[in-house]
Parts: sequence; C-alpha cells; structure tokens
Amino acid sequence: MKKLTLLTLLALLSLLPAAADEGMWLPSLIAERIGDMRAKGFRLTAEDIYSINRASMKDAVVLFDGGCTGELVSAEGLLLTNHHCGYDAIQRHSTVEHDYLTDGFWARTREEELPNRDLNVRFLVRMEEVTDRLAAGETPEEIIAAACAEGTGYKASVEQMYYGDQQFLFVYEQFDDVRLVAAPPSSIGKFGGDTDNWIWPRHTGDFSLFRIYASKDNKPAPYSPDNVPYRPKKHFTISTKGVKEGDFTMIYGFPGNTQEYILSDAVEYIAERSDPAKIAIRDGRLEIISRAQESDPALRIHYAAKHAAIANAWKKWQGEALGLTRMKTLETKRQQEELFRRENPRGGELLDAMKAEYRRITTPYFAREITLETLRALPAKYSDEERAEEVFAARAKIERALFRRLFGEYARRCPAEYRVPAFLDGVARSGSPEAFAEEVFEEVWAGGDTPLSDSLRSGTKRMLDHITWLLGTDRLRNLTSSRLNDLYREYVHELRHTWPERPFYPDANLTLRVAYGTIAGYEYADGEYHKPQTTLDGIIAKDNPEIYDYDIPQSLRDLYASKEYGRWASEIDGRRTVPVCFLATNHTTGGNSGSPVLNADGELIGINFDRTWRSTMSDIAFDPSICRNIAVDIRYVLFVIDRVGGAGHLLREMKLK
Ligand code: ARG
Ligand code: GLU
Repeated sequence: MKKLTLLTLLALLSLLPAAADEGMWLPSLIAERIGDMRAKGFRLTAEDIYSINRASMKDAVVLFDGGCTGELVSAEGLLLTNHHCGYDAIQRHSTVEHDYLTDGFWARTREEELPNRDLNVRFLVRMEEVTDRLAAGETPEEIIAAACAEGTGYKASVEQMYYGDQQFLFVYEQFDDVRLVAAPPSSIGKFGGDTDNWIWPRHTGDFSLFRIYASKDNKPAPYSPDNVPYRPKKHFTISTKGVKEGDFTMIYGFPGNTQEYILSDAVEYIAERSDPAKIAIRDGRLEIISRAQESDPALRIHYAAKHAAIANAWKKWQGEALGLTRMKTLETKRQQEELFRRENPRGGELLDAMKAEYRRITTPYFAREITLETLRALPAKYSDEERAEEVFAARAKIERALFRRLFGEYARRCPAEYRVPAFLDGVARSGSPEAFAEEVFEEVWAGGDTPLSDSLRSGTKRMLDHITWLLGTDRLRNLTSSRLNDLYREYVHELRHTWPERPFYPDANLTLRVAYGTIAGYEYADGEYHKPQTTLDGIIAKDNPEIYDYDIPQSLRDLYASKEYGRWASEIDGRRTVPVCFLATNHTTGGNSGSPVLNADGELIGINFDRTWRSTMSDIAFDPSICRNIAVDIRYVLFVIDRVGGAGHLLREMKLK
C-alpha cells in the first residue's frame, strides 16, 4: 500500500471516529479504553465496570421496558429511571380520582407499590463474542437456545457489531414483576413539556421510581403477591457532593441506534431528503393538533401524548439536519471516501458497489418513510373505548383535517412508482387526494364496513412488503438493504484494519454501552455560552400558572419562598439554591434515557434524559464542541422525593454519600 502523506493522515484523523468524548463502548472490551478514562479522571478499574466473576456496575443497570435504561439504587430492588420512561405505567394507574400524572404518586408502604402488566427489566448476565462459533457452523438460534437454558428468566440475542464483522451473544436475566413506587407530578417530571424538550437550559425533574420483585429465592417470577423485593448483586451509591465543570462523567446504558460510518450518500439522503420531508409532514400534523388543543381543554388533554410523540422526533430531526449542515458532514464524508479510494486497494471497487446500491434503494426507502409518516400514521379504526369518550364528537373535525392533510402529503411526496394503486384509483375517482381522504375518513369515523379504507390498507401493506423485498431485509431502522449491510461489513472492516491506531466503536443497537466525558457547558456561537448547570431559581423564573407546561406545584413555590431546602441546598454561583439539571459531553442517543450518570468513583450523580437538539446529529457525526447530553441532577431528584413527595423513607433505603 502507498505510504500516507502527513497531510492525508491528518485529514483522515479528523474524519474518523473517535476523538474526544465520542464513542459508545462495549463493556466487555472496556479495558481497551480504561487508560483514556483514567486520564480523564476515572478512579475505578475495567473489572469494576464489567465483570463476570464478581459484582460489577453492569449488575446495577437494566434495560427498562425494552427501550429505556434504569439503575438500581437500593439493596431492595429500588430502581430509578425517567418520568417519560415510566409514563405508560403512571398513566395506566391514573384515573379521574387518582390522577397520578397530574398529582404524582408516592407509595408510603411496600403494599402500596403498584404492579404493572407488560413491564419488564433486563440485567445483562454476560456478553461474549461468537463470531468464530457462527463461522464454524453453529446457528444463532442454537447459541440463543443454549444461553436461555442457563437460568430462570434468561433471554438471549445475537447482535451484529460493525455490520456483522463481529457478532456478540448477549445473555439477559429478565424480571417481569416491576412495581411503580413513586413519580413526581408531571409539572415537575415533564416540566417545560414539549416546549423545553431537547432544549437547554432545562429544568425538568424527569425521574420515576420502580421496584423489582422476585421469587423468595431471588429469581425472576411472574407477578405474585408472594414475591419479595429483588436483592441485586450491586446497586449504586449516590453522591450528593455535586458536580462542577470538568468533572469526569460516565454513562452506562442502552443506546438504541446510531449510524456513524455511513457514506455521504446516506448523509445527503438524511439531511436533504428524509429529514426535511418528515419535518414538513409533521409540521402540518402538529399545526392541526395544536390548534385543536388551544381551542378546548378536553382536546388538549386528549392529544397530549400524541402531540408529545409527534413533536419529539420532529424536533430531533430539525436539530439533526441543522447539525449535519453546520458540521459540513456531507463534504467531510466525501473527502473521507476520496481518501479511502486512494489509500485502500479495494477502496474504489467497494465504494462504487455501495453507491450503486444506494442508487437502487434510496427512492423505495424514501417511499416507505413517506408512507409510514402519512397513510400509516392515520387510524385504521377508532376503538369502542375511544368512541365512548366524551371528546369523541369534538375530535371529528381534527381527525378529518388530519386525513385530508396526510392524504395530500402522500400524493405530493411519495415517489410515483411506489404509490399504492388503490390510492391512485381513489383519487382519480373522487377528484383529489383531499376528496378521497374525506370518503375514507367518513367510513372509518362511522365504523362498520370500511371497503375503501380496507382496500387502501391492504394495498399499502402490499407496497410496503414489496419495498421490504427490494431491500432484502425487514430490519429497517435506517436507509439500508441486506446487500448494503454486507458491503458495509467489508467497508468498516477495511477502515478498521487500514487505520488500526484509530479507536472505533460499534454503532448503537440497544446493547449495553459505556460513554464517558466531562461536565461541560458549550459555546454555540460567538458570545453564546451555555453554563452546564441549572437551578431551582430558573424553575421559579419560568413558573407561570397560566401556561400548562410551566405551572409548578404550589409546594415547590412554598419551598422556594421559605428556602427550606434542608440538606439539598447548594451554593451555586454565589446563590443558595437547589441544583436541577446539568450538561455533559457523553455520547448518548435514544434509549439512554434513564441511564445512570456516574462520577469518577462510580457513584450516581444524575439521570440522563435528553440531548440538546443541536447535538442530535451525533447519531451520525459527533461534534465535541457542542454535543451535550442532559441529565437531571440527583440532588434535585432527592430533594423532590424528600420535600415535595414527603417520601423520605425511600431515601433511607439508598446509600447517600
Ligand atoms: N427528548 C427526550 C427523548 O427523546 C424526551 C422525550 C419526552 N419528553 C417530552 N417532552 N416529549 O426521549
Ligand atoms: N430522551 C431520549 C430517550 O428517551 C434520550 C435523548 C436522546 O436521544 O439522546 O432515550
């Protein structure tokens, strides 16, 4: 191979991961990073993070409800996660008489802790590379079956790292009796609502408490009143000493999905085609729903969860597209590809094959995304439960407007060759997408027979199946195909072996990872510096009984007035106050919600719950100067439990330092 010039080498170093605090590392391989972690201030060992021989930090971290993270904070199975991760459970227990979403919930005794159907947590028992076993002919099914047989409640999966260049077995112990212990009122747990979501400065007390129950011999068991609190191998000590800029932080959790090694073709697709289209479609939906919410308090409540779900990704995509443009990721990736072409003997051939595959699949994949955002975002029917609700009649206008809007968007945006024939027929017959939308809406709204909507739905399903067939895979979280995955396996393999001195980390795939960094503010633009810590004073400044998202509980106003913060008081910037949220440089993504934020001694200092929207391109390209995760300061969590919830008995279970 040609010798690298110093210049190309330098260019390359800036193009490849992972410098600074970028990276989501596999816990079983953390020894490879421990030197860097210790240089940044970490005081523990690789064995403290992950060990199969003795209790380690991994034994205090759980995959919560299949999509969030949680952490154990007591010897009796007490677990912390986000309010928004416990939201479903809290909502399901809420009635008009006991509105735990609005008022909060604090179990005073173990008997008051509330069981939850369909809620589980998983501990990682161990992970191990099985690339060689698979190459030797064992199937993933055989490997998984053998692992599941190892213990009660064991689950297992084989996951691809680096597009399958390496494969790992993950063995989990799953507990299904997980009870709700406490949740603050939404005016704390969801303070700032969708307005503040993805935003810094932030003042959300985004936490809730659950407890894992087990059989008397401490094994997973289905719900039973005879179950007892689970005794974990390990739980986190909580540090109440506080944080300051520059302190080491580590996040241990289950990040869901990143695509750090994609070619410029995929970046271009995301930044210029997919994100803008999806944002515009959701603009329309949000406008219709928000207007309805403003017109009627009953509609505001009814559409709250829907609005939050639509707005969450909508805001994230805006940050992502903005961030990719700001970082010039497209140009950078193109340069990287040029270098790879020159420096790697197989480079040109490989890239050409990948680019050809992108040309083949990008339009059908886009059609799929548009279909999911439009036709598939509309209800196929309204349940009897919904029909019985008082707001149902008032919803007709809004639902009709959504049908009209989304049919119009589908007609305009779905690439012609992937439009559903039943849709085209309907539009031709009725005169316009909107007129056809009205016809389908009338049927769905009326219930009963729905021939138009049924044929539209089955036509849509056939089209989506066709696209899946074109892509050769139904594992479609990103623009990809089965052939492209094979090509990426080679590509990333070559990257890693051509430049072995560079650290690489596998893309997030909802397996357990370690991210580390420091507490840090950021300067977004000249003169625009953001401090890394917020306080109770900021909550009071935002407090407004007139605005739903900023209407804090009276008890919090009273506490502020009396300044009776007790042991949770802290001196910040010369003021005596209570810390609320902080920023750090850890590389996180969706799924890291609820993750423990740990200090240099592995003690809990916060709970991760968000990133700034301007960081969300870190799923594709991480910019250490501005990418920040957002955590709720553990001292605010303790303050709320103690002073707002009056649940000091829970603190006595915890190990506070
Ligand atoms: N943005 C965070 C995440 O991606 C929090 C979402 C929940 N909060 C909300 N206001 N919608 O999940
Ligand atoms: N709120 C996200 C979650 O639920 C975490 C924010 C992010 O995407 O980093 O997982």
